[in-house]
Amino acid sequence: MEDKQRELGGEEKEEEHAKVKIWKYVFGFVEIAVVKCAIELGIADAIESHGSPMTLLELSSALRCDPSPLYRIMRVLVHLKIFKEKPATQLGPKVYAQTPLSKRLLKSGQNSMAAFILLESSPVMLASWHGLSARIQGNIRNPVFEEVHGEDLWSFGAANPDHTKLFNEAMACDARVVVPAVIESCIEVFKGLDTIVDVGAGTGTALCLLVEACPWIRGINFDLPHVVSVAQEYDSIENVGGDMC
Ligand SMILES: C[S@@+](CC[C@H](N)C(=O)[O-])C[C@H]1O[C@@H](n2cnc3c(N)ncnc32)[C@H](O)[C@@H]1O
Repeated sequence: MEDKQRELGGEEKEEEHAKVKIWKYVFGFVEIAVVKCAIELGIADAIESHGSPMTLLELSSALRCDPSPLYRIMRVLVHLKIFKEKPATQLGPKVYAQTPLSKRLLKSGQNSMAAFILLESSPVMLASWHGLSARIQGNIRNPVFEEVHGEDLWSFGAANPDHTKLFNEAMACDARVVVPAVIESCIEVFKGLDTIVDVGAGTGTALCLLVEACPWIRGINFDLPHVVSVAQEYDSIENVGGDMC
């Protein structure tokens, strides 16, 4: 009898939890929409170049936008703990300050993930996710990206330089985070190697970081011709365009 009551209590709790949690899915897109908006407005960049936390009016003036809608966006960003809100002085207005998370929304720099967020939240990339159930039901046979855009990701990139630019920048964000960690923990692996060929290397960020840390290595940066044509030039790296398939 006691067990039955405890079980019902648990079910009721689950029901209550579900009533609240379902709203997370109704408006689940809001978080990414607001973060994308923060990157596009350059909120983190404005605070960074100001050099200290900013009031709403300072921020709206720097971003040249209306303080009222900006305030609403800042409320969400503070709620998400992306920016911090703190009192400037005891009587002064509140100010918005950076956090380690907001610094990842900077448009450039070592830890920037802005391009990756803009890529994955772009209409081009999101369009594929809308076809997920059709792919699982077998109504779509090709990869969803191909079905939606009429060509695969790489051919689409060749015909859309803006998309390729964003894609390459997104990959570089990842390389700037991952490669230093690999070098730091596995430097032994690279000792004794003369040449490394990075196949599908993008614009060469990973190889640049690698040859900088291991100057005895010569790099070959291999990728599709339209990608290699905008790759970084680096003394000990040869950029080679081609098709690995
Ligand atoms: C996921 S990205 C990886 C980028 C890179 N490794 C980095 O970390 O920045 C895959 C790369 O493979 C390249 N790629 C795709 N198909 C290719 C092919 N057939 N031949 C050569 N490169 C190709 C793309 O252009 C893209 O740069």
